[in-house]
Amino acid sequence: MKILGIETSCDDTSMGIVENGKCVSMVRTTSEEFHKKFGGIVPEIAARKQLEIFTFILEDLIDKLNINLKDLDGFSVTIGPGLVGSLLVGVEVARTLAYSLKKPLVGINHLEGHIYSIFFDNKINFPFQTLIISGGHTILIIFEDHLKYKILGETVDDACGEIIDKIGRKLGFQYPAGSELDKLAIKGDPSYYKFSTPRFKEKEKEYNFSFSGIKTEVLNIIKKGNFNLENLIASLFHSIYESLIKNIKKVYDKTGINKVSVVGGVSASKFLRKTFLNEKDFEFYFPSFEFSTDNGGMIALVGEEYFKRGYESNVFQIDAVSSLEINKNPFIYKKSGGDYE
Ligand code: KG4
Ligand code: ZN
Repeated sequence: MKILGIETSCDDTSMGIVENGKCVSMVRTTSEEFHKKFGGIVPEIAARKQLEIFTFILEDLIDKLNINLKDLDGFSVTIGPGLVGSLLVGVEVARTLAYSLKKPLVGINHLEGHIYSIFFDNKINFPFQTLIISGGHTILIIFEDHLKYKILGETVDDACGEIIDKIGRKLGFQYPAGSELDKLAIKGDPSYYKFSTPRFKEKEKEYNFSFSGIKTEVLNIIKKGNFNLENLIASLFHSIYESLIKNIKKVYDKTGINKVSVVGGVSASKFLRKTFLNEKDFEFYFPSFEFSTDNGGMIALVGEEYFKRGYESNVFQIDAVSSLEINKNPFIYKKSGGDYE
């Protein structure tokens, strides 16, 4: 099967071709530079840039993918969660391509894309824990089997990429600050500052995360001035790590599952990768860097998985949705009719 995946949930525009589980080509462009002076993503600019990219360079991008669209078996597109204006552009492009070429279409949850990104470079057997850490999400799940996820916990306030970006902004770094701060973290002393790791007493929240307290503590140090930048950032990354590993260990204690995939933009952090890999009782897996941040390949891969199992979406019904839980997708049906199970 040869599937084209389209990802436009935020400021990245990416298309990838997946053939039998392998990403054979991928293109990516981003409107990142247009948001820099605002210190964060401006949704209207992101949507307008998505539209410009598809209006003016769609043919160029398809040329770069090195594919004849007629040879494809189907299209796969991110429907959410994300910025609706940006998502809509991808959805309309995918709908138009699928309809005009008379190929099937499937609308994909962006988070499922990140979850599946692990398979491009790793062989890993079910079940395993998956930690999604990105600019918008921090979620811990058990990946039980293909397309089956048990959600255990998520952040109750900021996502961990979000606090890294916000602190970076305060320090004068351009958005997104993750990779620049990561370089500083590697050089600093992670035990220099001690930040609190939140605890949830309620049973139903035991696998949740909270990062806003750490953010406030770091911002207070910045406000006071006279701090060592590398040590501060290393300590910040280390305390994010402590929050993450605490819940992973809890899941291990309850289930015995010691294989963990870490995905999403923040999983590109060299500091975090190195620290996770020091945990001797666990096997940690990461996507390659090109598949850590938003990309069309991961969307095509999930699409292929749905098509293989007889699921698809209706080209006329499919729509963009700003928030969407991992286990919920209102637009996927079994080909023979009936609901998405
Ligand atoms: O998954 P992603 O591309 O977009 C979302 O779905 O949010 O993640 C973007 C996030 C941003 O917060 C960015 O600062 C962070 O990933 N990021 C990093 C690194 N590269 C990107 N954070 C830490 N270290 C990195 N090397
Ligand atoms: Zn993402």
